[in-house]
Amino acid sequence: MSGHEEARAVLADGRFSSDKRKDGFPLFTLDAATLQQLRSQPPLMLGMDGAEHSAARRPVIGEFTVKRLAALRPRIQDIVDHFIDDMLATDRRPVDLVQALSLPVPSLVICELLGVPYTDHDFFQSRTTMMVSRTSMDDRRRAFAELRAYIDDLITRKESEPGDDLFSRQIARQRQEGTLDHAGLVSLAFLLLTAGHETTANMISLGVVGLLSHPEQLTVVKADPGRTPMAVEELLRYFTIADGVTSRLATEDVEIGGVSIKAGEGVIVSMLSANWDPAAFKDPADLDVERGARHHLAFGFGPHQCLGQNLARMELQIVFDTLFRRIPSLRLAVPMEEVPFKADAVIYGVHELPVTW
Ligand code: HEM
Repeated sequence: MSGHEEARAVLADGRFSSDKRKDGFPLFTLDAATLQQLRSQPPLMLGMDGAEHSAARRPVIGEFTVKRLAALRPRIQDIVDHFIDDMLATDRRPVDLVQALSLPVPSLVICELLGVPYTDHDFFQSRTTMMVSRTSMDDRRRAFAELRAYIDDLITRKESEPGDDLFSRQIARQRQEGTLDHAGLVSLAFLLLTAGHETTANMISLGVVGLLSHPEQLTVVKADPGRTPMAVEELLRYFTIADGVTSRLATEDVEIGGVSIKAGEGVIVSMLSANWDPAAFKDPADLDVERGARHHLAFGFGPHQCLGQNLARMELQIVFDTLFRRIPSLRLAVPMEEVPFKADAVIYGVHELPVTW
């Protein structure tokens, strides 16, 4: 499905399943080993349907409201300023923005969500970076295992010494209801990490590429930071970095946009095509930060629509505002054709982004 209207119709329709363990689910983005691992584990929120999905999502929705997240804003600003201070303090040029800013910012923001103690930040940041970098498969697996063990231990510590964070509140609520589920909380923490880290990091990098390669659009943003939220929506639409994640399986015969889909057939919803559908966005190939692109589908649509979207928006707004205010002469250090884009990844992005000023 590639039209904006059809994509929304599929993603909002309860007759399509998100359960990736079901036979026939179109999992073109996963290799055989990952698929086997997925099928051997209890499903995460992303792979649940109907009432089971609502029951998993409902208790954490309150943690991601605009109001609740506003309390995190000063902390995120500090984190962004800290990494930009480091960039400005170095004599070395060019700087790789991916390592200097895009990867560490969302990693430390997730530390805030999880309530990771300050003394563990370096460990957390180095392992999350390794998990998504162009290192060997062995290194990535080791980082994954170490993080999993760390998160397991962190939740255990919170069970006996609660703090003021998302997981301590989930533990208190589950205790009260008599449903304390340690393994479920570890999986939730890991889901937030995997769903919220690489996505936001890649969007930071591509957003910078998008603005630097369209100087007239950057001028609009620099002239009035009040326009940044709209610019963020347009960048999300333009790049649609998580295009491959919204596949579904029909559980009944359904007709969408004049196409008959039989029960048991898979549907690949291309949000990138939907977000470049001229019926929904005039001249979609133009990056136009003033177009008002809020109806884009970069965060998906329907019951599984991104839980962390308000957090991602806030991070992106703070990063773009702060970066271009503090380093107004920022520019790419290599021609655009030499930027190594992630062409074959599930989440689009860049491996490296050499910048200078
Ligand atoms: C620019 C950054 C991000 C993008 C583009 C993005 C994109 C998406 C998309 C497309 C989905 C829907 C998947 C589907 O329908 O099957 C999704 C779901 C989800 N996202 Fe995000 N995401 C981003 C950041 C975040 C952050 C920061 C968090 C949390 C820390 C997060 C947590 C989640 C979770 C938990 C789900 C599953 C929701 C559910 O199944 O009900 N995401 N995301």
